[in-house]
Order: sequence, then structure tokens, then C-alpha cells
Amino acid sequence: MFEDFYGFNRTPFSRDIPTDQLYQSHRIEETLGRLEYAAERQQFIVVTGDCGTGKTTTIRRFKDTLDNSKFKVMYLADSKLTPRHFYKGLLEQLGCEAKFYRGDAKRQLHKEIELMKGIHKLQPVVIVDEAHLLDREMLEEVRFLLNFKMDAQSPMALVLVGQNELWERLKLQSYAAIRQRIDVICRLPHLDRAEVGDYVKRHLEYAGADHDIFSENAIDEIFKFSGGAARMVNKVCTHCLLYGAQNKRRIIDDHMVKLVIQGELV
Ligand SMILES: Nc1ncnc2c1ncn2[C@@H]1O[C@H](COP(=O)(O)OP(=O)(O)O)[C@@H](O)[C@H]1O
Ligand SMILES: [Mg+2]
Repeated sequence: MFEDFYGFNRTPFSRDIPTDQLYQSHRIEETLGRLEYAAERQQFIVVTGDCGTGKTTTIRRFKDTLDNSKFKVMYLADSKLTPRHFYKGLLEQLGCEAKFYRGDAKRQLHKEIELMKGIHKLQPVVIVDEAHLLDREMLEEVRFLLNFKMDAQSPMALVLVGQNELWERLKLQSYAAIRQRIDVICRLPHLDRAEVGDYVKRHLEYAGADHDIFSENAIDEIFKFSGGAARMVNKVCTHCLLYGAQNKRRIIDDHMVKLVIQGELV
């Protein structure tokens, strides 16, 4: 494929880019800082952003950088999450088989978390990705997680990650009880033009490229088409690299980007 033509030893613009090879913008650094702070203080944090802006990737990085000897991360990303599956999923990650009834599983989870904190001195961090897809019942259930002890201390750090609709919903009056408990809100914005340039460079560097493949004008077009969403940048760049390799073009210019977008992406 195009890797040979461009002399890459890894594939750029792929999903599985290791988290120590990511492009790091100021905003991503800031989000990671807030996540870490929320983990340490056992807070409730909501991370929102449009689709493809790098939410899940940022969470992957957060998981990888958290100190394993201090924190136990539990991660769920199931669009059809029901309360039973929720408790089952969390308990499985703690190495336990969940009791059948929801109420029992809930008590069981709280007990396990208490044990983990008391005996192993691990602070729990529960992450629910794709949280914009949760229905009301599930969102309420998530809130109950924070409620199970009467004392003021929070039982865990809770991270809800989702598209912007999540925040639109939480703003509704009927979600006030949940909203009031949120300690921190972070939004991952789209990349700006300069950031898209740096982002593309980072992926090419990771792949082992020895020169800039996309011209500055090409980056302008990529920015315009992608709107600065990482996933769309990946898509355009991958299509351009395929086209470029087929047509033996070492440098990809704006004309080629336009051609590829018109021919393959719109
Ligand atoms: N900081 C980053 N560095 C490198 N690639 C990234 C970064 N953020 C996102 N990506 C790429 O963009 C794609 C989409 O990001 P993702 O985290 O899945 O978005 P979201 O969860 O917001 O929909 C990922 O598969 C990854 O390849
Ligand atoms: Mg995601």
C-alpha cells in the first residue's frame, strides 16, 4: 500500500496510534490535567466534544498515564447500557461475578469498592464513554453511584464522556440533580488551522516519514474539509496518501486534496 511508496514503517492516521505518540495540543494537555485532578480529588467530571474530536483517544491517554498503584480505572463504552449491564461491567473489571438482581449487584459493587479503597488503597475512577447515548434511567443510575454513602466524601471519581448533546441534555431542568453534582466540565474543541498542520506532522513523524508530504496549501484544504475534527483529518489524509502512492506523487498539494475530496469523500 502507500506505506512502501512513502517509506513509512508504521501506518499514520490510524486508530491504534499508541498513546505516547499522540499529537498533544494545549487543550488536550489541559483536559488531561483536569482529568488527573478529578481522579485525585475523586470528583465528577464531564468531558464533551463533537464526534471525532479525540475524546476517546484523550481518555486512552489518561488511562495509560494514571499511576496504577494509586488508581483503579474502570471503563465502559456501551451504547445500550442498562443498569444491570452497568453494574455487571464494573464488577467484572474488579474481577467479580455480578449478582443477578440489580439491587444486589449495586450493593455488591459498593462493597467491592469499599474493600478496594480500604485494603488495597486504590482510588476508583469510573469512566463512561459515549455517555450521550445513555437514557434517563441510566444517567440517574450513574448519579446514584455518587450517592451511596451519606458522608461528604465522594466514593469515586466519575468521568462522563460524550458528544455535545450530553451537555445540552444535562442543562435541562429535569437533570438539575445530576448537573449540580458535576465538579468540572471540559470541552474538547475542533483543531484550528495551525493545529491541523501540527497534527498531520505528528502522524507522519510517527509513521517514520522523512519529509513533509502535504504542502501548506494542501493542509488548508484538509482543514476546510475536516473542520478540524481529528477523525475527518485522518480520513482525508489516508485517501490522499492512497491516491498519491497510486499516482507516484511524493508531495500532495491542494489540487490533489480537492480531487480526492470531490472524487471519494463527498
Ligand atoms: N491527540 C491525538 N493524536 C493523534 N491522533 C488523534 C488524537 N486525537 C484523536 N486522534 C485520532 O482521531 C481519531 C478519532 O478520535 P476519537 O478519540 O475516537 O474521537 P471521539 O471519541 O471524540 O469521537 C482516533 O482514532 C485517532 O486516530
Ligand atoms: Mg469516542
